[in-house]
Amino acid sequence: MSAQNETIRRITVPQIRDRKGGEPIISLTSYHAHTAAIVDKHADFILVGDSLGMVMHGMESTVGVPLDLMVMHGRAVVRGTKRALIVVDMPFGSYEESPNMAFRNAAMIMKETQCQAVKLEGGARMAETIKFLVERGIPVMAHIGLTPQSTNVMGGFKTQGRDEDTWNMHIADAKAVAEAGAFAVVVEGVVEPLADQITAAVDIPTIGIGASKNCDGQILVLEDMLGLNPWVPKFVKKYGNLGPAIEQAVAEYADEVKSRAFPGPDNVYNNK
Ligand code: KIV
Repeated sequence: MSAQNETIRRITVPQIRDRKGGEPIISLTSYHAHTAAIVDKHADFILVGDSLGMVMHGMESTVGVPLDLMVMHGRAVVRGTKRALIVVDMPFGSYEESPNMAFRNAAMIMKETQCQAVKLEGGARMAETIKFLVERGIPVMAHIGLTPQSTNVMGGFKTQGRDEDTWNMHIADAKAVAEAGAFAVVVEGVVEPLADQITAAVDIPTIGIGASKNCDGQILVLEDMLGLNPWVPKFVKKYGNLGPAIEQAVAEYADEVKSRAFPGPDNVYNNK
């Protein structure tokens, strides 16, 4: 069977939703075809996160990420994968103004990338938009707690829920997005007991990042857990140390070029 005819059977939105309280959902971000192909073997869903602005493009926050960048990386990840559900982030400014605007841009993302769902940030304030999208055929993953697109309002990347008086607001956010029809909700950067209460309060899976081990699933930024970023948030365990490994490979290459020990084309391309 040719690659073009190969049947692609991805994990579906209802399958993710049905994992509430069940087997933990495994998820990572990915922005390229080649890393996505590796992640695809293990992840239930892959997020093309707008963190790519910071991780890939050196931006200071996700606020500057344009829609066409999300589409470009979304296409690459869909092309590189065949098993995981692919979720693409809606960037800042592409959905907040109105449900109509959100629909137009979410539909464009889905058509252009062939992803299966979009993610957007915000709790109760985005409930009307989430309902509007879901009723029109667009599966939505919500994102509450520390919402990086709002860091200018929050005054930085700050753990949420340190003040217990705010817990009801965060729980109300989770309930609002669940009632609006979100199939899962990312809970980022909230104190552990609050994350546990949110998980208990909603009937959709919670996907934790810097939240609690008791969330229904976990997500990490791939480059963070691979040790590719010099700085990572405190809660991230490094499962790899690729930064130094890449530097060592580059240094070895540089040495070979300098000493004219660089292998000729016959060795490199094996084309005898
Ligand atoms: O943009 C992103 O990578 C995210 C995850 C950190 C959840 O939203």
